[in-house]
Amino acid sequence: MNKKKTLVRGGELSGDRNIMAFHQEFFTLNNGNKIPAVAVVGTGTTWFKNEETESNFSKELVEQIKYALTLPGIVHLDAAECYNTYQELGQALRESPKPRDEIFITDKFSPTPKNHGGVLERFESGIKKMGVDYVDLYLIHSPLIEKEKNGVTLEEVWKDLEKLYEAGKAKNIGVSNFRVEDLQRILKVAKVKPQVNQIEFHVFLQNQTPGIVKFSQDNNIQLEAYTPLGPLQRKQSDAGDFYNYVEELAKKYGKTEAQVLLRWVTRRHVLPITTSSKPQRIQAAQDLFSFDLTDEEVKKITELGLKHKPLRLYWNDVWDQYNSEAQKP
Ligand SMILES: NC(=O)c1ccc[n+]([C@@H]2O[C@H](COP(=O)([O-])OP(=O)(O)OC[C@H]3O[C@@H](n4cnc5c(N)ncnc54)[C@H](OP(=O)(O)O)[C@@H]3O)[C@@H](O)[C@H]2O)c1
Repeated sequence: MNKKKTLVRGGELSGDRNIMAFHQEFFTLNNGNKIPAVAVVGTGTTWFKNEETESNFSKELVEQIKYALTLPGIVHLDAAECYNTYQELGQALRESPKPRDEIFITDKFSPTPKNHGGVLERFESGIKKMGVDYVDLYLIHSPLIEKEKNGVTLEEVWKDLEKLYEAGKAKNIGVSNFRVEDLQRILKVAKVKPQVNQIEFHVFLQNQTPGIVKFSQDNNIQLEAYTPLGPLQRKQSDAGDFYNYVEELAKKYGKTEAQVLLRWVTRRHVLPITTSSKPQRIQAAQDLFSFDLTDEEVKKITELGLKHKPLRLYWNDVWDQYNSEAQKP
């Protein structure tokens, strides 16, 4: 299982009422590299666009990223080719004085039905739009890649990611939405083991696909959770006990319910990726390690969550078939 590394960095977070010393935590990946243990601006979901045009350029997203980059510590941003938000990221990065080595950028190769050029070419196009020389983490967005449909096999795509890793263009590499059998395919051919598997993970979906949490953790592949606030985004009217308990913990620690749920994710050794259109929520996420839950509290949240039927927000057409196993610890 990945070990959590703690690092205290200088800096301050200004809250409404007081100034707090800032404390950041990192996970250590299987190659020894560190990754900030929460990503505070995901540039998909809320910000996702079907295409990138001049008229749908989001100034709001630029402002949110720029705001995040004013926060202390290393700021972790999550991007992907199919989100069509590279231009906004690029503008925010250009306008921010934060040094590149205090920004952690994840990008993803998003397979398309049509093969728009190879992985290496599309990687270069992405970093050019963002105006950076390298990314900190590059993922294969989904395992749904077939030679007939996409012009490449999953194994061939992985080999290209390894080339980017060896060239220092992607400091870490990994996958997203991978099932156990998809990871096994990669592990068979890998010279470089995936460092990360980014999946949907929250209290009401504790296994995106059968056995994936245990398999990834047993193989020292860092899990990342997208949609960590699923239970707040889609409040479940039949989970009163759960919501009351989260509210009780939020009051006990003087934190938000979102912080309690994000902290629970980290205590499961999974790295949450969140996003918000509200600066105070981005700040609250970056300030996640100013409190901790007890082991009993983590256990109780896990158990209350598992009592609830699966709540899957993404990739339903392909992964709903696994719902009967999605709420197993
Ligand atoms: N690899 C993949 O296939 C994949 C799939 C999905 C997402 N992702 C990545 O993960 C990122 C985060 O996903 P996500 O947006 O689902 O994350 P999330 O953190 O679960 O949800 C963020 C949303 O929750 C809302 N929210 C925050 N606090 C709340 C509260 N207390 N009550 C109710 N709603 C609240 C925010 O709204 P406000 O704006 O109002 O704060 C925002 O719309 C994406 O942007 C993307 O980068 C990856």
